[in-house]
Order: sequence, then structure tokens, then C-alpha cells
Amino acid sequence: MFETLSPTPPDAIIGLIKLAAADTNPDKIDLGVGIYQDAQGATPVMSAVKKAERLWLEEEVSKKYIGILGNPDFNRLFSEILFGTDSDVLSSGRLAMAQAAGGSGALRLGAELVKLANPDATIWMSTPTWANHQPLIGSTGLRIQPYPYYNKDTQDIEFEAMCTTLRNDAKAGDVVLLHGCCHNPTGADLSREQWRVVADLLLEKNLTPFVDLAYSGLGDGLVEDSYGLRLLADKVPELILAASCSKNFGLYRERTGLVVAMARTPEAAEICSGQIGLTMRRMISMPPDHGAALVAKILSTPELKTEWMAELEEMRLRMGGLRTSLAEALSVQGAEQMAAAIARQKGMFSLLPLSSEQAVRLRTEHSVYLLNSGRINIGGARDETIGRLADCILAVL
Ligand SMILES: Cc1ncc(COP(=O)(O)O)c(C=O)c1O
Repeated sequence: MFETLSPTPPDAIIGLIKLAAADTNPDKIDLGVGIYQDAQGATPVMSAVKKAERLWLEEEVSKKYIGILGNPDFNRLFSEILFGTDSDVLSSGRLAMAQAAGGSGALRLGAELVKLANPDATIWMSTPTWANHQPLIGSTGLRIQPYPYYNKDTQDIEFEAMCTTLRNDAKAGDVVLLHGCCHNPTGADLSREQWRVVADLLLEKNLTPFVDLAYSGLGDGLVEDSYGLRLLADKVPELILAASCSKNFGLYRERTGLVVAMARTPEAAEICSGQIGLTMRRMISMPPDHGAALVAKILSTPELKTEWMAELEEMRLRMGGLRTSLAEALSVQGAEQMAAAIARQKGMFSLLPLSSEQAVRLRTEHSVYLLNSGRINIGGARDETIGRLADCILAVL
């Protein structure tokens, strides 16, 4: 049977990781993989997570299934972080929440819910977007269409073009995937004014937002990064949220995420919960527990919550500092537009205005590893390598 299968095409990021690992140049700079790294290039377990793990080891009394929608404390506490503790929608009973296997699992569950509710819906995605959005959401069979978002030459959001496409080409009932913050791969986020325009447009055209929040806390701050989500929750009648704890809790391999469907009424939310549960059952039966138990422990223990928020803030500031340093190193040498874009972009990523040939040259001539698209993970840089990084970028321009 298996001889009928063809080999999978090579994965660009995995290929890049291998190339970087094999490079013996002690000055190599690896900006490829999309995980947070500290000043030593490590991705350690966060201290609040370690402490929660110790507590949980003592407290856990059973390994029985946790239930189809996951850990209810996790669902509620993480939703409070995202929507705000005092949010009206949280107390309205209009939220169907379920624990998911990472942000990816949440995206897939959200897309399956769309497919069940409106199989004719088209999902609109930004150009460019995270490389896994299309496979994750497209596997449901839903139709996918692009909307313009980022112009690599001007290194800015093409806001007019985005709105024009959504206004003219999307039909009522369609779904618009929006990066809640720290857009991957560009780092270019909507301004507050732009979020307001988008919210009005979605309302006017009867389009449903599908917000992907994979980096909350790593852009402008935990509350600030929820601006778009909270605005939409106030303005539009329905939305879907896929949120991840991979980056902000450093729980990558624990596969911890949350899917939320905000419905028009509590009764409709109840039905959404049932349908999400049924989908989960069909896909993997029951969600995993460990990561969500840790997040619930942290968010329900004031000292751990304070410690986690401080660690997250340190990560955010470290990346912001690296951005500023890289921007400064580039602007003194005459690449002002690139420097300004890097400085104003948010989160881990920026999309440099480089061709794939230039990205390959950076790799082969300078041992600087980035995706061929020009995407860099700013967290892969170090204070001491920023100067060399800027020189290498300028050398291939
Ligand atoms: C934009 C975006 N959404 C969702 C995810 C999903 O993350 P995970 O499934 O690891 O939680 C990622 C991870 O890189 C991402 O960049």
C-alpha cells in the first residue's frame, strides 16, 4: 500500500535549520526558526512554568481524560488575559471556548467550525501570511482567497488595497483571517485607526473575523496586543479566535492553545461548543492536559502570574532592543527605509526587502541564515552580532 505514496517536498524551514546546524563558522547568525531565543541563544523553560510544574507534580491526582473541551480553568483564565477580565463578552455567555493542540489546533478547529456552519464561506488571508495557514485551514476544503497586506518594496501595509479587495470581492458570510498582533512573517501590524476601519468594514459587509493571536505579549504588551480582538468583540456580532501559548508561555512542545467562537447569543454559543467538541472527538478524541494545566496554575496563582508577566515583558523588551539596535546599525550605513521598517515592526519577525538570491548569498557567503522570502526572526540575533548582521545585509543589497 505505502508504495503508492510519493515523498513529501522538502520543508524550507527544516532545511534551513539543518544547513545552519551543519555550518561550523563560529560567527554564524541563525535568524531562521520562529522561536524565541535568549541572549545565549537558548530557549529555556520559563521560570514561572518550572515552578508551576513542580506544584502540579505534587497536586495532580489523576490522569483520567480531562473532557472534550479541555481544562475549563485554562479556557476561562486564558480568555480573561485575551479579552480582558472586565470584558462584557466574557460574562455574556456568548463565548464557546475549547482547549486546542497549540494555536495550530485552534486554527484547525475554528476552520472546521466555519466549514460546518457555512461550507460556502471563503477564508480571506493576508499576502503574505504564515506558511502554515493555508495547509491548516485549506485542509478543511474551504475556499481560500488572498487579500493584499504588505508591500515588500515600500515595507509597509497596503491598507487601501486590503480594504478595497475585502469590500469589492468578499461576499457576505465570508471569513477574514487577521493576525491579532506581531504579523508573521512581516511584523507589520494594523494601527488602531486601521483596526477601527477594518471592524467597520467587516460589520458593514457581514464578514466574520477569524483572529489568530499567536504572539500576545510580544508586540506592544499583553493588553495592547489584544486591541484588535477586543475592538472586534465589541463591534461585530460573531468572531473566531485561535490563540497560542507556545511563544508567550514558551510551551511550544506542550501544544497548548485555545479556540473561541463568539456567537450572537448564549444559546448559539452552546451549540458552537457542542460542534467544536464533536469535531475534536472526530479528530483526536480528547485534548492533551499538561500545558493547559500549567497555564491554569500560573494564571490562578498571583505570584506565578506576576513572575510570568515579568518574564514575558523581558522577552518583549529584548526583541524590541534588538530591533532598535539593528535599525540603528542599518540607518547609519544608508538603508534608511529598511531601518525604519524594522524599528516600527513588532514581535519576532520582519520581512527584509531581499530577493531569494540575496538571502542565499547571506547564507553561503556570510553564514547568516534567514528564509528565502527575506523573513528574519529578530530573536535569533545577539547584541554582539548586530553590527556584523547589518554589515552582511548591506553587503548583499
Ligand atoms: C501566525 C501564527 N499562528 C499560529 C501559530 C501556531 O503556533 P503553535 O501551533 O505552535 O501554537 C504560529 C506559529 O508559528 C504562527 O506564527
